[in-house]
Amino acid sequence: MKIIKTADYNEMSRKAANIIAAQMILKPNSVLGLATGSSPIGTYQELVKKNVAGDIDFSDITTVNLDEYRGLPRDNDQSYYYFMNDNLFNHVNIDKERTHVPNGMVADADKECGDYEALIKELGGVDLQLLGLGHNGHIGFNEPSEEFDKVTHCVDLQESTIEANKRFFASIDDVPRQAYTMGIGTIMAAKKILVVVSGADKAEIVKKAFTGPVTPHVPASILQMHPDVTVVCDAAAYSKIEA
Ligand code: F6R
Repeated sequence: MKIIKTADYNEMSRKAANIIAAQMILKPNSVLGLATGSSPIGTYQELVKKNVAGDIDFSDITTVNLDEYRGLPRDNDQSYYYFMNDNLFNHVNIDKERTHVPNGMVADADKECGDYEALIKELGGVDLQLLGLGHNGHIGFNEPSEEFDKVTHCVDLQESTIEANKRFFASIDDVPRQAYTMGIGTIMAAKKILVVVSGADKAEIVKKAFTGPVTPHVPASILQMHPDVTVVCDAAAYSKIEA
């Protein structure tokens, strides 16, 4: 695991975008695994700038997102489908047919999750998976538990995640209680993994996840076992590692 420390969120975003751009230049038909949340927004803005400048080309890129709220229509501005269009896909030369987000409106969870897992396999797997890190160590919506969930599945969100995500909704009651998410096995099968983390509120979990024991109680800790992980972390998020 390589940890790259940056001064702040903006430098984190530029460095992360450079890593994704390098992947796209070296393999123009890459399958990119993407994340939502606050952490990658700056990275997406930098990718848009590079695309507009003509430095990267999305025309042969395929994307698969990590997760989606269950029961939220795609035109709801809090759905991850909406987020991806709004923050990235609407601003770059990507073929939308090649962008994939689990469909939270498919009521049959086993079918949607099974189909999503099969799709990733058909695409030949993920070349580079971008991740954020939850305060409780979750990646995707893989919450702390007694064991690592392997494949794409339906999860009940934990109170701390509902609490953390309520900032995006009119009220806490509007936060969906379930989500479809790639499993830990799905994430670990990616050829490369890039994690972006920023802010002092993540310092404790950064230390636990990346320097502590590997345990399903801290799902991101499994990333220590992956052969090609880069964490781009701002100084505030890194501060407990140095302390
Ligand atoms: C998003 C996702 C989540 C977030 C995590 C951090 O698709 O799967 O695991 O990456 O909750 O969220 P932020 O970046 O908002 O702190």
